[in-house]
Amino acid sequence: MKVGVLTGGGDCPGLNAVIRSVVRKGVQEYGFEFAGLRDGWLGALKGNVVPLGVPEVRGILPRGGTILGSSRTNPFKHQDGVRRIQDTLAAHGIDALVAIGGEDTLGVAAELDRRGIPIVGVPKTIDNDVPGTDYTFGFDTAVGIATEAIDRLHTTAESHMRTLVLEVMGRHSGWIALHAGVAGGANVILIPERPFDIEQVCAWVRHRFEFHYAPIVVAAEGAVPKEGQMILKDRSLDEYGHVRLSGIGDWLAQEISQRTGTDARTTVLGHVQRGGTPSAFDRWLATRFGLHAVDAVKDRAFGTMVALSGTRIVRVPIPGAEAKTRTVDPALYDEFGVFFG
Ligand code: F6P
Repeated sequence: MKVGVLTGGGDCPGLNAVIRSVVRKGVQEYGFEFAGLRDGWLGALKGNVVPLGVPEVRGILPRGGTILGSSRTNPFKHQDGVRRIQDTLAAHGIDALVAIGGEDTLGVAAELDRRGIPIVGVPKTIDNDVPGTDYTFGFDTAVGIATEAIDRLHTTAESHMRTLVLEVMGRHSGWIALHAGVAGGANVILIPERPFDIEQVCAWVRHRFEFHYAPIVVAAEGAVPKEGQMILKDRSLDEYGHVRLSGIGDWLAQEISQRTGTDARTTVLGHVQRGGTPSAFDRWLATRFGLHAVDAVKDRAFGTMVALSGTRIVRVPIPGAEAKTRTVDPALYDEFGVFFG
């Protein structure tokens, strides 16, 4: 059997660990051949297929990014997209695909599977918001980076007795903000799932200053004030209809400054969260996902995605475009209210 592997959507640490483990087990145990499709669904559309064997995956376990490249290409937005993908697979003798991606890439995979292309899905994203799995790889690394940033912001905030706002990624879900905020001892954590009251945020900031400590505010990029709209940097959409976010951090610093009469600044962590070497946990999870994904191909369990359930790797249906994003449970968020202010 010849298996095509692709990585789609925003990259995340651990993608290479999955590719390595899929190829190593597939070649060594099942005698499969592999091919890489460059840049996610774009390579499938364009027929951009590269060799992928044991030599290609040597030494990539600790490397961030993806050796196969990635893009946010949606084949259903391209003329004859499905037929072009089928042509690519036929031209290269590819019998099945392993699609490693987040909600968008997997939504496409689910639809292609329904149309007869044999696919196994692997969930990835730093955002940790893919439905059906307890965790995605990439998340732990991103949380570690954001936590270190908060640790560093604490000391400079104290030196200048000012509020420091940290904006982290998370379009629809506040997992990174919540985990890093709790781990870093933030005084305010704002997530998309819970529209915030700017007056309450300012009350927490004032309260913190009363005890001669400098407030640290962690905000997910998709956090929204109660009374307003999402703060957007621009309104351009990608092929999956997502707006480009960012701006909430600056807005918060400005409002806090004006409303409290104290100094406030913002750090936007951006792609630092997505780049670089994966944590040990992410390498572990990505490796296990890869091993189980190739088993699923061997078992012809197409249309399934490998997922973490507790400590076990299980198979669940690939979440389609209609599946609901895995967001933070409000009750979990409320557990940490005692640390605010
Ligand atoms: O990978 C998901 C994500 O990190 C989101 O949190 C963020 O909104 C988005 O990617 C940014 O992606 P890009 O840099 O590809 O525009």
